[in-house]
Amino acid sequence: MKKEEIKKIIIIVVCVAILVSIIMLIKGCDSTKSDLKKIGYSKDEINTIIEKLNDEEITKILNMEYNENLVNIINEQYYIPYNLDRYLSYANKNENIKDVISIVNVGADNEWYTNTKETNIDEGIKMLVNKFHYLKEDYSPDDIVPISNWYAYEGHSTKKEVYDKYVSMWEAANKEGLTLLVNSSYRTFEDQQNEYDISNDDYASRPGFSEHQTGLALDIVTYDIIGNEFENTDEFKWLQENAHLYGFILRYPKGKEYITGYNYESWHYRYVGKELATKVKESGLTYDEYYAYYCEYKKAC
Ligand code: DAL
Ligand code: ZN
Repeated sequence: MKKEEIKKIIIIVVCVAILVSIIMLIKGCDSTKSDLKKIGYSKDEINTIIEKLNDEEITKILNMEYNENLVNIINEQYYIPYNLDRYLSYANKNENIKDVISIVNVGADNEWYTNTKETNIDEGIKMLVNKFHYLKEDYSPDDIVPISNWYAYEGHSTKKEVYDKYVSMWEAANKEGLTLLVNSSYRTFEDQQNEYDISNDDYASRPGFSEHQTGLALDIVTYDIIGNEFENTDEFKWLQENAHLYGFILRYPKGKEYITGYNYESWHYRYVGKELATKVKESGLTYDEYYAYYCEYKKAC
């Protein structure tokens, strides 16, 4: 056989193989579409399912009955593929799909303090501590320094980096005639036990589950102010606009109790660094939600 003829045969074989693959792909896609149609999904729903889910997830869907929430769930901005089963089962109890996504992402489809995981302390200032992520009893942060009484009520301490940023923030607020005061800061596991004993699950973390044990949380108020009266002060308003510039976020916002597991605390600020604090603020998410989507799932925080 001549070289030319061998070349022709190879080209023909390759073309046929490509054609067969294309036909099989289209057929496979068509059969997925018709199987989804048989279950009850509309044309638009089928297109979304095929566009957003991988083969394994589609197989799972094909083994289930029609679910009216499915497409709304996978279209949500903070949809995380590995949570799909939990979204679907939680959506049966809750009509608001946005809430379903948030609740499942942070683990709050479980009872508080169940399915808990040890906090990854290697993440430093980004570490997540909440009702599902705990610190060991013997965890104590390094470089804890005392806070001068100029900036705080007596006897407080925090991590050095937090202190430096808090002082810069204090000075900026003070230039505008405002006075910030720390009235709670670093707490040991035992300190937190004492806090918890005189409070309740809506306001105090159980020992091991408090951000105060990280040395990265400060309760900030001003003179003669108790509890959420703080939100009516100019100091609070200033913090709302500026705290992120110094690396602080309001950790337990109003209206997000079902995500954080705590009542609104206008005084509890968590240091995560300026870059991350700015992103969290811009997202409008709680740190629990932000962490679940961007840090844990996207690995981008
Ligand atoms: N008050 C906050 C939730 C704490 O106890 O850490
Ligand atoms: Zn606090």
